[in-house]
Amino acid sequence: AGLDAAGGQPAAVPAAPPKAAEPLTILYASESGNCEKLAGDMAKLARKGGFKPRIVDFADLDVAALPAEKRVVVIAATWGEGEPPARAVRAYDALMGEAAPRLDGVDFSVLALGDTSYAEFCAIGKAIDVRLEALGGRRAYDRADLDLDFDKPAADWIKGALQALTPPSADNVVAVDFAARATAEDDEVEPSREPVLAEVVDHVNLNSSRSDKETIHLALAFEDGAPAYEPGDSLEVFPENDPLLVEEILRAAGLTGDEILRRLLLTERDITTLSATTVERFAKATGNAEAKALVESGEVRAWIEGRQLVDLIEAYPSALNAEQLTAITRPLPPRAYSIASSRKEVGDEVHLVVAAVRYETHGRARTGVASTHIADRIRNGATVRVKLKPNRHFRLPSDPGSDIIMVGPGTGIAPFRAFVQERRATEATGRAWLFFGDRHFTHDFLYQLEWQEALEDRSLTRIDVAFSRDQPEKIYVQDRIYEHRRELVEWLDGGASFYVCGDAKNMAKDVRNAVVRAYAEVKSLGADGAEAAVAALERAHRYQQDVY
Ligand code: 2AM
Repeated sequence: AGLDAAGGQPAAVPAAPPKAAEPLTILYASESGNCEKLAGDMAKLARKGGFKPRIVDFADLDVAALPAEKRVVVIAATWGEGEPPARAVRAYDALMGEAAPRLDGVDFSVLALGDTSYAEFCAIGKAIDVRLEALGGRRAYDRADLDLDFDKPAADWIKGALQALTPPSADNVVAVDFAARATAEDDEVEPSREPVLAEVVDHVNLNSSRSDKETIHLALAFEDGAPAYEPGDSLEVFPENDPLLVEEILRAAGLTGDEILRRLLLTERDITTLSATTVERFAKATGNAEAKALVESGEVRAWIEGRQLVDLIEAYPSALNAEQLTAITRPLPPRAYSIASSRKEVGDEVHLVVAAVRYETHGRARTGVASTHIADRIRNGATVRVKLKPNRHFRLPSDPGSDIIMVGPGTGIAPFRAFVQERRATEATGRAWLFFGDRHFTHDFLYQLEWQEALEDRSLTRIDVAFSRDQPEKIYVQDRIYEHRRELVEWLDGGASFYVCGDAKNMAKDVRNAVVRAYAEVKSLGADGAEAAVAALERAHRYQQDVY
């Protein structure tokens, strides 16, 4: 970094440029891109402080080479019920395994991202932090565990960690007071792009009225042009809460008259998620003796299962004021949906596929915040706040002559509609094979006519479907994959890229297992050999996932 890069503060840097910048390796384990973005932010700031940062995706990490690092920062997300992001699994297992190397002499610091609405909050970051120390590393700066509203605390952590990682004898590193820069140059750590307003121009239920599912095709238009998205990207939607739920909470808290609070609960606060932290804060804020007893009993985790904030306030009636209600809730997070269109085909629109989430727990009807806001409360002409969320790990092959295989049951179909539109518009010559699955052929075949047209115009070469409930036994996309394993392996051997979108918990794993089994069977490989074949595809970025 030159003097200019120090941010127009030449007085703060020594006259002589640094001899050799101090290396700093920033590892990230990202699923939806948040950790990756923070790694980029941190690298930028580190460079200005005279470090020579190197960003490494866990997907590309060689754990055996870690001892050669001088200082390592890990920014890691925890996914689902305490799992590493899919792309990070291989390196994570290697780090946790017996063959992991000693890390004596390596300085490290870990930033953990998670979601308090899941039981194992930040489990992966915590495990990595413990492991790096156990292997002999020196913790230069304490770990932080951050929830979905991580923007500000992450920026603070980055500055603190860089400060702590700066060698005391700063003859190599430009002496920059990272902490002091916090206020002066807050824009150093790139603020996230601001949300923009979009207008609903199409709102259609893709399921038949007799389906037990409701999947909305949503088309959004933008006054100043659509955000510059690529097929594979997602769009974050900033939802509003259910007004009826807001009323219930206001009533339970004895605050029905407060208009400002009503508005705040509707648009700004997460009033559905109930975490152990929420219960603890509630017990403390209200002083409710029974709520305190619950916290002390150690039964909080079991109690919150299937429950929401409204259940807590009703179960432990206490007068709450507006400040307390705000303090015990977290900001309402946006929900990301995979984009289902290509700009080359739809111009300045963005299309989304949104399944309405409705279920019942503890005798009360529950609804997914964003999905039912979209399904029930907005129609053509309404506006929604949205923000582009790029995903450069879910991309069509750069060679339009390459074949692609797409696996997208249910709403997992979304990015593949974008892929097929893009390939039609660009006249891509490679073959395209789609696996789709849902419950019933007659009610749930999302975009059926479009796939037929795509088969006719050759933007789609082949489609195989798995309707799980049209026969006594369940048939899933992975069954079709295994059924057609010979052609599948042939396509992959010929250079095809393989894409999976949809449910992370079961489907994506079952699909991966099916591909491993396909290799084992077709190529007469042992379990290890077949696993290695799929791992090689992943390393070559020819097995990509967009799962949630
Ligand atoms: P089911 O609801 O009949 O179990 C889209 O939601 C489709 O994915 C449905 O047909 C659903 O079937 C199916 N599905 C459920 N679990 C799955 C799994 N583990 N792997 C693949 N598909 C699954």
